[in-house]
Amino acid sequence: MSNIEAIDSLIQQADLQSLNTLAVPAYARYLKYVENIEQLRSALNFAQRENLQTLILGEGSNIVFSGDFSGLVICNRLRGIKVVPQEGNDVLVRVAAGENWHALVQYCVEQGLNGLENLALIPGLVGAAPIQNIGAYGVELKDVFHSLDYMDVKTGRCHSLNKQECQFSYRHSVFKDRLKNRAVVTQLVLSLSTLSRSVLKYPALANRLSKSASPREVFDVVCNLRSAKLPKPGIIPNAGSFFKNPIVSPSKLQELRIEFPDLVAFPFDDQFKLAAAWLIEARGWKEKNHCDVRVHSDQALVITNPARKSGARVLELAYQIQADIRSCFGVDLEIEPVVV
Ligand code: EPU
Repeated sequence: MSNIEAIDSLIQQADLQSLNTLAVPAYARYLKYVENIEQLRSALNFAQRENLQTLILGEGSNIVFSGDFSGLVICNRLRGIKVVPQEGNDVLVRVAAGENWHALVQYCVEQGLNGLENLALIPGLVGAAPIQNIGAYGVELKDVFHSLDYMDVKTGRCHSLNKQECQFSYRHSVFKDRLKNRAVVTQLVLSLSTLSRSVLKYPALANRLSKSASPREVFDVVCNLRSAKLPKPGIIPNAGSFFKNPIVSPSKLQELRIEFPDLVAFPFDDQFKLAAAWLIEARGWKEKNHCDVRVHSDQALVITNPARKSGARVLELAYQIQADIRSCFGVDLEIEPVVV
């Protein structure tokens, strides 16, 4: 039996357009859906034997295909949620990486397991959450993270990492660094509580909710805010924020504020996080159209692809924005989704 025949239901020349929320047309040489650890291991084994690059895909909500992918795409479909009560009000929730993130948040809110409510409606699967340390409305994954399991792409061995070992920072982790292309997250363990611990520090929440707001109320407000500003990927193709908010020193902020007194910035450790959406909007990019690729009308950080143009076209618009922001403000905008 050849290596290819040894892999059950391997798809060849797989169409990726419906597997990325930006709806960029692209093909993968091979694609395999994995539903358990053994299938994952044998898919990785196949890639090793055939000397193929691997790409792990959840819901494709944070990826830009700049062209076809000549390796093996592995679609993570590992499922299962287990709630493990700890002492007092603490609860660990063990979630397989192929579960849908928002469905998990909703399940936890319904079960009275608190801590995830600010992270409602973030597209994608659970396994993608630690890669970029997802965050919204004042909470990041790292705030509720306990540990995770991953499989090494080369050896097929399973390992666990605690919070410190994941090296989380703003939209960043060890999986974008030392373990880039080396690890497939298989399970996430979250540390939640049966006590209400609503985080209302984000101004948009503080303005709409009282201090005693329940996690359910936070969840509802976050869902409403996101639905109002962010396009639904199933209706208008997009990959969420296309740029990270740049971090600058206090002196750089001071210098910028002389020329741009309205510039929006938030304290971030001993530095400042600039609202990239403000920079982009201030330069007149909002609603701009490049070959039918657009800057979203309600949130300038989002690039939409309604005409399902190529990743190259999407990136052309992104590069133009980056160059303009650099020349006007002297600030580098980093692309947030993974470009393949
Ligand atoms: N703003 C503008 N123009 C716009 C939108 C926003 O000037 O079109 C200004 C406003 O002053 C606003 C500020 O930018 O107060 C911040 O905007 P917003 O609250 O919408 O948040 P953001 O910094 O643009 C980040 C995340 C989002 C997350 C929101 C809410 C990043 C890269 N993005 O956006 O995450 O939902 O905060 O917490 O950090 C994602 O990662 O895909 C994503 C959507």
